[in-house]
Amino acid sequence: MIVAADAEALARAAAERMLVCLRQSSGRSAVCLTGGSTPEHLYELLATEPYRDALTWNRIHWFWGDDRFVPHNDPRSNFGMARRRLLDRVPAPAGNIHAIPTSVENVEEAARLYETELRRFYGAERLLPGRPLFDVVLMGLGLDGHTASLFPGHPELDEKTRWVVGVPEAGLEPFVPRVTLTFPTLASTREILFLVSGPCKREILTQVLAGADLPAAHAYSEGGLVWLVDRQAAPERYNAA
Ligand code: 6PG
Repeated sequence: MIVAADAEALARAAAERMLVCLRQSSGRSAVCLTGGSTPEHLYELLATEPYRDALTWNRIHWFWGDDRFVPHNDPRSNFGMARRRLLDRVPAPAGNIHAIPTSVENVEEAARLYETELRRFYGAERLLPGRPLFDVVLMGLGLDGHTASLFPGHPELDEKTRWVVGVPEAGLEPFVPRVTLTFPTLASTREILFLVSGPCKREILTQVLAGADLPAAHAYSEGGLVWLVDRQAAPERYNAA
């Protein structure tokens, strides 16, 4: 676990780690973004120097770990947030931006289409060990222990075959249907980077790190899995001077 002094330091540390992960691949690379408010500052930072110049925009492909089933210009859209804070401000080619579709009939259809898109990008029908889909997957932690749109007690937690699933009912606000990547898909990465910030997260983060039966505690990665948290969110024992 890496403890950053505050939310700003957390964003900088995340940007640095992303650069390291992205430099490991020589050809194209793939980033899976997360939603919520925690990564907003990171996304803005990536659009400014020195990160803007350090990233090879035409080589990086952008995906989402989950989204709310709302139009892309809705303020609740995870895609919309990343577009406003990052992608609209940098020379990312439109063909490299792979949003979860939300203008289709329902979440099942959206999940099916996004799974097809991911398979096409990956170039195989099954995720293979040693050949990760993503270079880095960003993830967040909800107050109920959810991550992506994998909520406590929901059946999507146990999905082992499908890459993407529809979530008809969210477990937490905003209460709109969701589309989410499943644990095995999120795990197909060089690194998962969990970003956790603020005092309201300390309690749930303490439980997750203690191995409580909560979704975020069940996330795993084929590569590394790093918790990047700020001091306010870090459990007491990590704050000892
Ligand atoms: C979503 C997210 C979700 C998020 C956590 C933390 O669509 O809601 O992807 O998993 O990462 O809820 O959100 P905050 O950063 O807003 O606390």
